[in-house]
Formats: sequence, C-alpha cells, structure tokens
Amino acid sequence: MISSPVFEIEPLTPNIGGRITGIDLRKDLDAEQVAQLRRAWLEHIILVFPGQELSQEDLLRVTGYFGTLGKLSRPAEFRPTGYARLLPDIMLISNIRENGQTIGALPDGEMMFHHDMIHAEKPHNGTLLYSVEVPTHGGNTLFASGYAAYETLDPDVRDRVEGRLARHHYNYGSTQRGDSRGVAAFAESTHPAFRTHDETGRKAIYINRLMTIGIEGVGQAESDALLERIWDHAEKPEFIYEHVWSVGDLLIWDNRCSTHARTDFPSDQRRLMLRTTVEGTRKPE
Ligand code: SIN
Repeated sequence: MISSPVFEIEPLTPNIGGRITGIDLRKDLDAEQVAQLRRAWLEHIILVFPGQELSQEDLLRVTGYFGTLGKLSRPAEFRPTGYARLLPDIMLISNIRENGQTIGALPDGEMMFHHDMIHAEKPHNGTLLYSVEVPTHGGNTLFASGYAAYETLDPDVRDRVEGRLARHHYNYGSTQRGDSRGVAAFAESTHPAFRTHDETGRKAIYINRLMTIGIEGVGQAESDALLERIWDHAEKPEFIYEHVWSVGDLLIWDNRCSTHARTDFPSDQRRLMLRTTVEGTRKPE
C-alpha cells in the first residue's frame, strides 16, 4: 500500500528551497514517506522543517533517511557543558566558549559561499543543521542553486571551463578566502568545475569562493578571471534563498548542487546548532 504524503511543501524561491510543514520528525516515517521526502530534497535542494522539537537520537534517525550518516573523529572525552550526552557523529556549530575555548566548530561571524568538504576525495552529499540557540539578528544562512547558475552562465565562460577540473583547498580554519593556506590540517582535492548530480543527472557549478584555488589547464591569471566571473554570477540574488533562523528549525541541503554562506552576527550573542552529515557516495563526476 502506498502511504499518502505526510507533509505539505511550499517552494521558498523559484530556484531553491522547500518549506515542509505537517510533519513531526519525532515520529518514525515508513519507507514510502522517506522516499517522498528524498524526492522533495532532490527537487528543492534544501528543505526547511520549521518548529521541530528533536532529540539527538531523532536527528540521527532523520539523517539516515537521506543516506549514510557521516562519521566524525573526535576524542571520546569531548563533552561541552550541557552536552553530557553529546552523541557520536553530531557536531556543534557554535560561538559559545567554555574556559576560553569554543565548544563547537565554525564559531564566529560571516562565512563566504562554499560546498561542505569539497577539499575531500568524496565530499559529503548533504548536511543537516538543527538550531538550538539563535542570535536576535544575523547569522542567517544563504543557499545558492548551482543548477540555476550553471544553466544561465554566459556560454563564453561556460565553454572555457566545461570539462576542466578545479582545485580546492581546506579553508575551514578561516571564514574568508585565501588566509589559511599552509595550516596544519590543510588538504586539497580536484573535482570537475561543473558537476553532474549522480541522482538527478543535472549539472551544477561546483566551485566556490571560499575553497576553490584554481581551474586546471589554464594560466593563473585566466583562472582567476574565470573564477571571479563564475562566482559573481553564481551568487546573484535570484539563485539564493536566505534562511533567517528560529529555534527548532531543521534544514537539510544538498552539497552536490548548492553552496551556502553565513551572514555576520553579534559576537556577544549565543548561536548553537547541531550538525550531522550524509556521506558522499562517490567521487564527483
Ligand atoms: C556551515 O557552513 O556549515 C555552517 C552554516 C551556518 O553556521 O549557518
């Protein structure tokens, strides 16, 4: 028997984003309902589930609806205050400090557009972010459709880059471009500059301002000029959905065909998110 849809979906912009209501993610979904959710994710690139009251166990279960849970390596003794039960493979994104140390990753301020883990051989397919504490203003997350940007890219630029690889480097040590090369955790990768999504078959721009350092097979000056033109196009407002967070929002985004960025927020206000990932299934093609 096919179950009826368990949710309503409202597009958030013409190119990216779907807001899902009428679903309580504390409850188990059956296989058909999960399939409906996965189809919605592939169509809308990012799904927003407002007003969820999730335990950490719920978050891990929901992550599993979208693929294999991404693994984290961290010391077993890592226990920020208030998280005596921080479960394995849940990461904190937070600016909160205890004893002078941040309790989470990506703590402060603005971040430029990026694809999660693009410096890895098999970058994550997806990321989930669940908000626990939010500042009164700022700290919004912007999502840009790589499909819409690719489909409308100037053909001259597209033809010069089509079929080429781009090189990326680890740049999470910084929220801005260019100032973390040479850090200890440095890692690099090359992937197609335009990536074909392994499930939808659609092509998307797969370079980003935070982590891409060059296009292979062209000189540095030409590569820099092409990258600037592609970024300026890919970050146009018509390709973007900007999410203003409320406590209890759960978002999942598809890293294969979108980039995301973060706006600045007051450093004296707390921001706390729980993050999980969906493993990459293959090297980008
Ligand atoms: C991220 O880039 O994964 C974090 C986004 C955010 O903190 O809004």
